Amino acid sequence: MKRQNLVLYRKYRPRTFSEIVGQEHIVQTLTNAIVEGMVSHAYLFAGPRGTGKTTIARLLAKSLNCLNRKEKEFEPCNKCSSCLEIEQGRAIDLMEIDAASHRGIDEIRELRDGIRFSPTKSKYKVFIIDECHQLSKDAANALLKTLEEPPSHAIFILATTEIHKMIPTIVSRCQRFDFRKLTAQEIVKKLKNIVQKEKIKVEEEALNLIALNSDGSIRDAESFLDQAITFAGEEGIIKTEDVRNLLGVVEMSLVSQFVDFLAQKDSKGAIDFLDKVFQKGYDPYEFSKTLINYLRQLLILKVSSNFKDPLVAGFTKEEKEKFREQLKLFQESSLYEILNNFLEAQARMRYSPIPQLPLELAIVESIDLKK
Ligand SMILES: Nc1ncnc2c1ncn2[C@@H]1O[C@H](COP(=O)(O)OP(=O)(O)O)[C@@H](O)[C@H]1O
Ligand SMILES: [Mg+2]
Ligand SMILES: [Zn+2]
Repeated sequence: MKRQNLVLYRKYRPRTFSEIVGQEHIVQTLTNAIVEGMVSHAYLFAGPRGTGKTTIARLLAKSLNCLNRKEKEFEPCNKCSSCLEIEQGRAIDLMEIDAASHRGIDEIRELRDGIRFSPTKSKYKVFIIDECHQLSKDAANALLKTLEEPPSHAIFILATTEIHKMIPTIVSRCQRFDFRKLTAQEIVKKLKNIVQKEKIKVEEEALNLIALNSDGSIRDAESFLDQAITFAGEEGIIKTEDVRNLLGVVEMSLVSQFVDFLAQKDSKGAIDFLDKVFQKGYDPYEFSKTLINYLRQLLILKVSSNFKDPLVAGFTKEEKEKFREQLKLFQESSLYEILNNFLEAQARMRYSPIPQLPLELAIVESIDLKK
């Protein structure tokens, strides 16, 4: 089967509220408002990238202007001319301004002058202003004026990844929604859905690994999946190992060997091992990131002994076996201490003249001082 050259995050942008993953309170409040006909005229969507701000803003616009939507319903039909125009990015009554690229003064002026006129075809004129905190001072002031008395046919949706940079007077005029990062489980849920629809074979752990490394952004996860699919090629299968290389993470097996030295209280061995690793060109900071993640999982397993715990997702069967062995060698309290030592080491790496020195100190602290 020949695969289309696709961009997953566009292809799988939710077309209904029911397809949104997470952000429950936001979806709930907005869909209620649509049903009740109680939409407000200015919304502020704040939160990290790739969590659904633009998606929900467009859904809101779609639903409000949908020609087929019946009373007491909130989903857009995705079939009428209004829905299709929005989907194809050619709706006259939906204006999207990207403040990051324009800083917006011309657009906001145009908006302020144009806003008095009723919508051309639809019930509402919707203005989505992305990265709103980047509007120039003049543009922000013009926007504020507009927000003071918006005409009843206008709806503003301001989106920002940096709420603290917004002018408080603008914030206070909006109904504010705080978007949160998605959990690894939520991200996996969406990725699974995509691979199923695309008929792609994939090792389950590979999806977990992608989710864990996407920092709560579904968009980033979808981009990684895109790369993994390209890498696997037609008829290929997405392997955990390949995803790991793709993400540039330090292999778990290296870290696991290192932890063996800690478990055996062999500080000389641990330091020599690290030295070899860095001579091979691995980055000490990346190493410490993987190490801390690994130790964290060990600690969680020590406390819960539940190997099905979603918190220990992203590991292969062999790795879990290895975990079991190592767990026997550590006390809970010493794991806690070791994890703390390496956390501190990571923080100190930035200022250390020798990047790996803090790691070496952490080794000594974790082993020798307790003998
Ligand atoms: N909550 C979510 N549920 C489902 N998909 C999402 C969600 N958030 C983001 N996505 C995916 O990521 C892509 C980008 O999301 P977007 O709404 O543009 O993020 P942003 O918060 O940066 O505006 C979407 O097209 C969609 O595929
Ligand atoms: Mg966006
Ligand atoms: Zn419609």
